[in-house]
Amino acid sequence: MVAVRTIYEEIFNNDQAFQLFCSIAASDEAQGGWENGRIAALVPASCQDLAPKIARHGADEAKHGRIFGALLRKRGLEPVAVPADADYTMRLEAAGIGLAHGLLRGEEKLTERDIVSYLAHSRVTEQRASEQMRALHRYSAERPDIRRAVKMISDDEDNHLAYCHEELLRLARAGHQQFIERTLRSSALTEIAIYRDVSTAVMAHLGCILGWSRGKSAFLAAGIQAVYLYERVGGWRRMVALRMPSRRNALGGLQPAHHTSTGA
Ligand SMILES: [Fe+2]
Ligand SMILES: [Fe+2]
Repeated sequence: MVAVRTIYEEIFNNDQAFQLFCSIAASDEAQGGWENGRIAALVPASCQDLAPKIARHGADEAKHGRIFGALLRKRGLEPVAVPADADYTMRLEAAGIGLAHGLLRGEEKLTERDIVSYLAHSRVTEQRASEQMRALHRYSAERPDIRRAVKMISDDEDNHLAYCHEELLRLARAGHQQFIERTLRSSALTEIAIYRDVSTAVMAHLGCILGWSRGKSAFLAAGIQAVYLYERVGGWRRMVALRMPSRRNALGGLQPAHHTSTGA
């Protein structure tokens, strides 16, 4: 058996593996920051109340990118290019999750439906981010510097998820329910396959760097496939359910507000 904790420790202990791991994370976060920043700039008049929250969402993601960059610098490492097969955000965009970059690079205002799509896509991807950051937090117990940084990001991802739940519930009541349900379902089913493919690619790159045996690589690839099967059979439903979060208006404050509830 290969313990997940051991895999993380191997990555943390090897400069080249850590460099690739943080570079991939930093790039995903920075792309998320850019996308949300552009969405905030192009919000239609009917959704103006959401603009500051979307901008805050983008600012948080850009900050996460800088945090992963800082972890690299602290170790005297430069970011490296992200292999195309390990580029989660670009693969999602290519599959229609996340608004098309061509649209976001333009100056034309988005539609209300685009904003609903952005929130539904984010509902799915923020669930992934929240779970991943919680796992990374759990497995970085021996590395206080990494753990501190990850905790900050993890709290933000929980806030992003709470915000998506709350705003989607509001928009569902305002007449978008069917579109939201449809978008959530198709996004989740697409995301779980992309997550499997990206995880497999990342593990293959890390396996090369860390010199894993064929048996170990095959075992990990089988583990990733098993997670996919669990998600395909029914696990995906956790990514589409909508529940009013206990932390309301999670992105409503002007300042980053970790652990605080501004009330409803
Ligand atoms: Fe993030
Ligand atoms: Fe996020």
